[in-house]
Amino acid sequence: MASRSHRWWQTAVIYQVYPRSFQDTTGNGVGDLPGITSRLDYLAGTLGVDAIWISPFYPSPMADFGYDVTDYCDVHPMFGTLADFDDLRVAAHDRGLRVIIDWVPNHTSDQHPWFVASRSSRHDPKRDWYVWRDAKPDGSPPNNWQSNFGGLAWTWDERTGQYYLHSFLAEQPDLNWRNPEVQAAMFDTVRFWMDRGVDGIRIDVAHYIMKDPQLRDNPPAGERVEGVRDRGEYDALEHIHDKGHPDIHGVFRELRSVLDGYPGDRFAVGEIHISDWDEWAAYYGENLDELHMPYNFSLLWAPWSASGYRSRIDAMEAALPEGAWPNLVLGNHDEVRLVTRYGPHRARVAAMLLLTVRGTPTMYYGDELAMPQTEVPPQQEQDPWGIRVPGQSRDGCRTPMQWTAEPGAGFSRGDVAPWLPCGSDPDSHNVANQTADPASMLSLYRSLLVLRRAEPALHAGAYRSVDAPEGTYAYERWAGDDRFLVVLNFTSEETAFSIDEPGSIELGTGLDRAGPVGGSLSLGPDEGVIVRLQPDGDVVSTQT
Ligand code: NOJ
Repeated sequence: MASRSHRWWQTAVIYQVYPRSFQDTTGNGVGDLPGITSRLDYLAGTLGVDAIWISPFYPSPMADFGYDVTDYCDVHPMFGTLADFDDLRVAAHDRGLRVIIDWVPNHTSDQHPWFVASRSSRHDPKRDWYVWRDAKPDGSPPNNWQSNFGGLAWTWDERTGQYYLHSFLAEQPDLNWRNPEVQAAMFDTVRFWMDRGVDGIRIDVAHYIMKDPQLRDNPPAGERVEGVRDRGEYDALEHIHDKGHPDIHGVFRELRSVLDGYPGDRFAVGEIHISDWDEWAAYYGENLDELHMPYNFSLLWAPWSASGYRSRIDAMEAALPEGAWPNLVLGNHDEVRLVTRYGPHRARVAAMLLLTVRGTPTMYYGDELAMPQTEVPPQQEQDPWGIRVPGQSRDGCRTPMQWTAEPGAGFSRGDVAPWLPCGSDPDSHNVANQTADPASMLSLYRSLLVLRRAEPALHAGAYRSVDAPEGTYAYERWAGDDRFLVVLNFTSEETAFSIDEPGSIELGTGLDRAGPVGGSLSLGPDEGVIVRLQPDGDVVSTQT
């Protein structure tokens, strides 16, 4: 039972749906909103998550697959209609599932009517809605800022003789959030969806919207931070001026007051890639009056190591402002698939970690099936980033959800070519087969989700890490008298963890363990175990 003292977004497990790749109902090889609606029983029932975050489904020329929006208040016809969205929202709520949508405030499409007007003339009323600057005397761009997707962050506009800023593709011009009209217009788009009953927003590159007002050059980078994606040339600069200006906090306080004006705990989570914990924590707001959570991506690129994982989780816990709620992300539509990063056994340990550390977990569709990264042949490559910068393609983690072993994987009709090829392993990684297999990855996720939902200690309780043999990460979770110990073996060797009190195994990553433990808990290679402890004990571990 969910704890009453917690908000829904604290106890929820969020599941990310990439709408192009979830379920195609029209036979065009691209997923759509009615497709998601048709799979809600799977999400709420078979799997048992609490909320879905749907990546953008707005009208868009799809230069960046929907992260280039031409209308924030509509649905791309390829995905359906606003009525389809309403049906989806109602059907989700009927099943107790919350709906979170993606809000893309940093940039629009270059086809958005706002930008079309803005670039039409230097005197257009919307000119200042975007970031326009003169060239330097030698004709070069105003500063040295780089696009995340390769090349300069400035594009020259011949007609009006100025550069415009784009932190991503040239087709994604950055909005000028220092203009109050932009703020008002964008907050209205949030109201539009709140009025339609959505439960929350995921904010795309939330830390980008406020830049240095003087647009100063970024200095050269210092040492590369370990455990973040390698972006090649982009990493040569220290990105201190092109994002994260402190003025951003005023914007998020304003956003929060918009959300708080609605009943029902409307929620905002920010996509924020920051390695400095204090800077990250500042996005909660000094009075917890900004974002409900900035995403915690610290483990996405972390090497697989018990001490590294423990220190990152403990550092996040230590950085949290009083009363702030933690969270964890291990995969999304921008990253190499979990099972490909870690391998099949370790991905099970990662699943146990994701669903048992303190905070709100966000799962990525298909990870519950251990869907691996798909090799997409160059001639089928779609991702603009991968096309511009070899090695950066995100296509391999965006391939169709595999529902069955049939041609088309149950995603689309067998005679239809999906927008990205299906994985080459549909026999083992699909919902139908894994539902029937009691040892499958899906069965593990289902068991973890059932246990997590049933136990306040796991979805709302306290956390502390405990000392463990090298290569093992162990922590306690508790609420009232209910206590659990989670022990994760990060090595491929057997290990043993000593517990000086009796307990019983609730779940192991191999789904083959149960029963009492006391004294010594032995763990197989790459195995994780959840132990239910007696009330009032104290776990002590030493190497045995
Ligand atoms: C972050 C999103 O997750 C990514 O997919 C997108 O390409 C960029 N923001 C630009 O919107």
